[in-house]
Amino acid sequence: MSKDVILDVNELQTHFFVEKGVVKAVDGVSFQIKKGETLGIVGESGSGKSVTSTSIMRLIPDPPGKIVGGEMNFKGENLLDKSEAEMRKIRGNEISMIFQEPMTSLNPVYTVGNQIMETIRLHQDVNKEEALKRAVTMLEKVGIPSP
Ligand SMILES: Nc1ncnc2c1ncn2[C@@H]1O[C@H](COP(=O)(O)OP(=O)(O)O)[C@@H](O)[C@H]1O
Ligand SMILES: [Mg+2]
Repeated sequence: MSKDVILDVNELQTHFFVEKGVVKAVDGVSFQIKKGETLGIVGESGSGKSVTSTSIMRLIPDPPGKIVGGEMNFKGENLLDKSEAEMRKIRGNEISMIFQEPMTSLNPVYTVGNQIMETIRLHQDVNKEEALKRAVTMLEKVGIPSP
């Protein structure tokens, strides 16, 4: 594997074991992402894009879902070997997912700034004030007016 490959997904299989049988949502997906590369995955609804991404985050609900085969190497380490504690350090820090349904993934009671600060404080050893500064900088970076 070339050194600049950051994510190497190899023959990934994620299946759902439901009453009516086995849904082979992802069945042998392979791709690589190199440093600095952007990969777009396109496909019809239900083709397995979300299940592929959620598998990489190790957030597949089990039961009924299970990653039954393949490897996912991130920076040379198999994500499937990681403990839940190790995954928590990676999620939202090195690998992030922007979920499709804002009403279920974000809490409308909290401001955007608050929610960005929460992630920063979880992964970086900074106080509230510094976290707020970094949150504002992030919003500036993406062109939000008067963050
Ligand atoms: N919790 C689940 N139980 C059973 N089947 C599921 C579950 N989650 C997803 N699937 C199935 O996995 C397949 C792929 O879904 P998904 O990855 O969400 O598609 P896409 O994101 O490409 O629209 C679909 O057939 C979907 O019904
Ligand atoms: Mg989807």
